[in-house]
Amino acid sequence: MISNFEEKTGALFGGLWATLTDEQYRDSVELFTKRAVANNFDLEWLNGKKCLDAGCGSARSSVALAMHGADSIIAVDVSQTGLVEASRRAAEFSQITFKQASVLGLPFEDSTFDFVWCAGVIHHTSDFDVALSELTRVLKPGGKLFLLVYGAGGLRWKAIKALRAIALDLGTAFIDEAILVARFPANNRKHFMDDLFVSVQKLTSFAELATKLPKLGYSEIHRWTGETFDHESNSAAQLEDIVKLERIFHAGLSLAKTVTECYLTQLAHQTATLYVEFARKAMNDGSISAAEIREVVIGEGNHRVVATKA
Ligand SMILES: C[S@@+](CC[C@H](N)C(=O)[O-])C[C@H]1O[C@@H](n2cnc3c(N)ncnc32)[C@H](O)[C@@H]1O
Repeated sequence: MISNFEEKTGALFGGLWATLTDEQYRDSVELFTKRAVANNFDLEWLNGKKCLDAGCGSARSSVALAMHGADSIIAVDVSQTGLVEASRRAAEFSQITFKQASVLGLPFEDSTFDFVWCAGVIHHTSDFDVALSELTRVLKPGGKLFLLVYGAGGLRWKAIKALRAIALDLGTAFIDEAILVARFPANNRKHFMDDLFVSVQKLTSFAELATKLPKLGYSEIHRWTGETFDHESNSAAQLEDIVKLERIFHAGLSLAKTVTECYLTQLAHQTATLYVEFARKAMNDGSISAAEIREVVIGEGNHRVVATKA
């Protein structure tokens, strides 16, 4: 059963995958391997495993799991449109099957999977804890859960949170157009449309996660702290991402037609500029350490953890 709320979230994401070029899609699949290697995850362990890709999006991780020898992968998502696009992308992998379902009520027996992969999903649901316990329920004892959730802190999230209310008033079509005018590639479009419009965007401190997982019966919680290969790689990359927000609203200035749009785009542009200036200020502050700069600019960054169910 998929609620209206989840359907709305799915509808936002469902339309974001189709515009990825083949090369961008391939790169997104490769990220799985690069990150696993950078974090000493034993890819050979996947051989013959029964996997769930929970909130599969474009199915990039399902494809990677298949390429690394997983025996079967069930890819679920709330978005029917997204699943159609995902099945097209994964057409050559017969080990992947798709199903429309929510992580808040997974249609599987207890202890079904050896590996549950859930990246960037449960922080968008209406109940983070229910989602986490569902993922745990369907995992076999001794099985592994990979979880990616947004971490706390950092200037980028503060900029996003400050801009979301303005973006909401300007509307998805307006921002989509501004992203086009700013000439960002399709993978950036996904990134910013998601961040500016998704209904729920829960940030979780690592302390919170580290308390929750053992209570659900997880041991051996391995935090991936290696290279991320994205905007959280280092403070300069994060700054670049905040600059992109400034560029989106700069492009918006030229698209504004009504008085309200003119005011809102100016407000958003000045807001984004302020965050850019503060990120630069922190990065050029000779009196603080590199770790402190990172803490101010990136904060905790996304948490990627692999936890084993006892
Ligand atoms: C940020 S995308 C991540 C997609 C994919 N895991 C990846 O790493 O590329 C979030 C995905 O979660 C899906 N989603 C959101 N709420 C969900 C729910 N309650 N159950 C299942 N999928 C959900 C969205 O439709 C979207 O495809």
